Parts: sequence; structure tokens; C-alpha cells
Amino acid sequence: MIDIHSHILYGLDDGSKDLEQSVAMVRMAGENGTTDIVATPHSNLEYRFQPELVEARIAELQKAAGPTPRIHYGCDFHLSYDNIQDAVAHPGRYSINHNGYLLVEFSDLTIFHTTTQIFEQLLAAGLAPVITHPERNLLLQQRLEQLKSWAEMGVAIQVTGQSFLGRFGNRAQEFSEALMKERLVHFVASDAHDLKHRTTDLSEVRNHLVDHYGEPAAASLLVGNPRAALDGRPLEPVPEPAPRRKWFSFLR
Ligand SMILES: [Fe+2]
Repeated sequence: MIDIHSHILYGLDDGSKDLEQSVAMVRMAGENGTTDIVATPHSNLEYRFQPELVEARIAELQKAAGPTPRIHYGCDFHLSYDNIQDAVAHPGRYSINHNGYLLVEFSDLTIFHTTTQIFEQLLAAGLAPVITHPERNLLLQQRLEQLKSWAEMGVAIQVTGQSFLGRFGNRAQEFSEALMKERLVHFVASDAHDLKHRTTDLSEVRNHLVDHYGEPAAASLLVGNPRAALDGRPLEPVPEPAPRRKWFSFLR
């Protein structure tokens, strides 16, 4: 699996606390089937994004944790005026592996009226916005049609794995399922912050996705599309969800 959203770098945001925890998070990912993980520290008013420091921490962590899983560059990019201007001027600075896919996190409090124009601006700059976990955002949960129209523009959507397992509540779980039904999910990632509650272990999520949506869809969400994002290639359509048949269904 390839995890495109994680807070494994220590001391840069509310994710890992120190190098030891970072190493343990990376190892946990590897032990549970993740081959590549993108380190995406926050870039918002609280946490300033420092590209050189991110590169240095990745190198330090890769050396300490060993060669696998491979750690890649990225950013958990929050929509704000300054951020948007800087990303348009320097498209590689915030995007995954510097290759154009840009995680975009919405505020919980407001959705800019100009969001569609902002996406147009980012797309015109050669960036491919990826809306992160709309299922956990109370405002976006009520905007399925809006999400659909952004997806039609070429904006992708990433759901947090644990949302499918109900760890962010019923509403987030139901909205994740609704997004899947509408074929609006392009990526599933951990958004890991720690070793206990929001971890880098995606194995349970993978099993859930295989059971509920079938192996091809799970592989697309956890491997195929994330690989395309690392390489800066266009995404493939996620195969139609086809739940695995349970043996007892024949008895009904
Ligand atoms: Fe995040």
C-alpha cells in the first residue's frame, strides 16, 4: 500500500513528538503492508511549512528507520490566501513528491465562496488538488453535490481510512459510504498522527475495503491511485465497488 497522508515527521505539527515515535510509526506502516508513505506536515496558521526542514527530517527518519517503507515529501495544505498564492507561484513546494498532487484541507468553520475559482487557479498552475477527508468536515458532509461538481473539474478526494471503520463517528462513516457509492473517492490514506489512536496501520482498513467494495477497488484506492500521485500521472477510475459475497448470503 501507498499512504499519501501522514504526520510522521516529529516536531513540525501535532503529529509525531520525537524521532523515536517517528521511527515506530514508519515501522508500523511497513509491518502492516505499506511500502511507501508520504510525510505531510500541516501548513496552516498554527504550523508554518518549512520545505528544507521537511526534506531534512525525511532524510533523517529514512536513515533511522531503514530503507523501507520509502518516505516521500508532501504537505497537508490548508486553504488560506497566503498558502494559495505561494502554491500557485511554486507548484512543487507543497505537492506530493513535488509532482503536482496537492492535499487540500478545508476549514471546519467556513467554506470560501470562491473555492471553485481557487481550484481553477490551482489546476491552471498545474496542480491537482486532493480534498482531504471531506467525510470528517461538518460543512462538506452537507455538500455532496458541490463535491461532485469539483470532482468533475478534476479535483480528487481522499477519505481517511478509519472513517470507514466508524472511528470518527457514524456521520463520517455514512458519508464515506455515500462518497463511495457516488464513485467520488480516489484515495484512502491513514492521516496518522500517533501510535495509538490514529496510526499508520492500514491493514484493517484494507480488509474492510476488500470486504465491502472488492479487491480491485481497494487496490485502486490504496495502491494504484496513490502510485499515480507519487509519479504525477493521471488517476485511473476506481473500479466499480463490488462487495465480496458472504457465504451465508446463499442461505437467505
Ligand atoms: Fe492531516
